[in-house]
Amino acid sequence: MSVKPSSRAITVLDLQRMREQGKPISMLTAYDYPTAKMADAAGIPILLVGDSLGMVVLGYDSTVPVTVDDMIHHGKAVVRGAQRAHVVVDMPFGSYQTGWQDALRNATRIMQETGCGSVKLEGGERSAETVRHLVDAGIPVMGHIGLTPQSVNAFGGFKVQGKTPREAVHLIQDAKALAEAGAYAIVLELVPTALAHMITQRVSVPTIGIGAGPFCSGQVQVVHDILGMYDDINPKHARRFGEIGDATRAAMTAYREAVEAGTFPAAAESFYMDEHALELIRAMTPSAEQDMSEAERVLRDLEDAPTRSE
Ligand code: KIV
Repeated sequence: MSVKPSSRAITVLDLQRMREQGKPISMLTAYDYPTAKMADAAGIPILLVGDSLGMVVLGYDSTVPVTVDDMIHHGKAVVRGAQRAHVVVDMPFGSYQTGWQDALRNATRIMQETGCGSVKLEGGERSAETVRHLVDAGIPVMGHIGLTPQSVNAFGGFKVQGKTPREAVHLIQDAKALAEAGAYAIVLELVPTALAHMITQRVSVPTIGIGAGPFCSGQVQVVHDILGMYDDINPKHARRFGEIGDATRAAMTAYREAVEAGTFPAAAESFYMDEHALELIRAMTPSAEQDMSEAERVLRDLEDAPTRSE
């Protein structure tokens, strides 16, 4: 088990302070050590090891197949890369829906084995009791309502939630139930801007929007989306702040072409050895066409000859 001290520089209390000061909170997903290191260096205060890793890293169609072991594996890497950021790890499908006892067992494993600062789980009123038990056990919990991807099969696709008055009132109740249960922040995913604004005004904890407009306390995005990693994944709510997919493909093509043309590696990218040692190796390992007795003679001569340091 590789666990870093859980006293990370940014805590859930800092996030609450940012909300009170009206300082927008940026949160980004990270699934591995290098991304966590770069996001941390970029000053991102919260890194989410989202179960979206199932789709953007593991190649599944949804987040449903992701396991607790997957989350722990990736969570550990992100914690190792983050010096300052608060790391929150998603509880995957099936790890908390079967009751708060299972949730507590799985959340405890995730916290202990990754060294992360908190966990996130989906659902409003239906998850409130579970949130309460985790919080009572000392586990900070981030909630997640609106479009909750683990229920994508029930929603019939990735659709905006809360567009009708009934659904909207329900979402406000969900947010309040989570805040009352002790969630330290709530993700609002694919919620109309005006409704996300109303929820943000009605709860006492930070709201973190994704496809929920600019009036949340903060924003979260999937790192692959903002980096422009995929041509075929372009959610409306995301902005491509870079074109890393194109840059990566161009670099890989250039590498292949250089290998095929024999221009890589060049002398400056190669290593050299002492001529004396080289001769000794040639003598000890004659090539097929070399005469063994000649090789033995060279070896004897070399052994008799004074070495460079003598
Ligand atoms: O898994 C994830 O990346 C998430 C974000 C979309 C909030 O839950």
